[in-house]
Amino acid sequence: MEKGKFIVFEGLDGSGKGTQIDLLVEEMKRQGRKVYKTAEPTESSTGGMINDALAGFVKRDEYELSALFLADRIFHNVNPQNGIKQFLERGIDVVCDRYYYSSFAYQGIDADIDWVMNLNLGCREIMRPDLCIFLDADINSCDERIEKNRFGREIYENKETQRKVRQRFFDVFKRLEKSENIKIVDASREISEVFSDIIEIYNSLMQ
Ligand code: TYD
Repeated sequence: MEKGKFIVFEGLDGSGKGTQIDLLVEEMKRQGRKVYKTAEPTESSTGGMINDALAGFVKRDEYELSALFLADRIFHNVNPQNGIKQFLERGIDVVCDRYYYSSFAYQGIDADIDWVMNLNLGCREIMRPDLCIFLDADINSCDERIEKNRFGREIYENKETQRKVRQRFFDVFKRLEKSENIKIVDASREISEVFSDIIEIYNSLMQ
């Protein structure tokens, strides 16, 4: 049986990932694909610890946070109930909101980025995506979206950090240029315009 495709979406907080992911999943299903939509951090107990840290309820060192994201990601791949690996093996596509690129870009600011990258890329249980789509929206419009849609701000949700995160994403994409399939989409346009670029990228992956 042909393996499922593994597609990851990345972007700054407030870049509109959720909307575009829903549109793509809908279109994939319309084309007859079986799709599992998922996100990181997951709803595992480790994911709960991560969310407490992101909300600022518990203060965690960036190395500690990197290790929590790593443990959550391994669980996300291998758990037999709804793990990424078993879906792909069963021919089901997986669309994931954030993955290891986020660890590199966010934790890579205060933790040693090489250490974070080696832990993730060197772990054989962590699958490599077939495609990563980065939604690149400008920091001010992301910030407005955060302000409008959220009740409180998480630890990384401020303009200064987002500026650093965006730069890190680009550094990381440069480093992974040869080994990964990463596409950058200008997400500061109308929803339908952004989506038409995504469909084009998706179709070329499926050819
Ligand atoms: P996000 O997709 O913004 O979820 P929500 O919209 O529900 O807040 O992700 C939550 C945060 O987690 C986001 O600020 C990025 C951060 N994050 C990391 O710092 N490292 C990681 O490895 C992952 C997966 C996420």
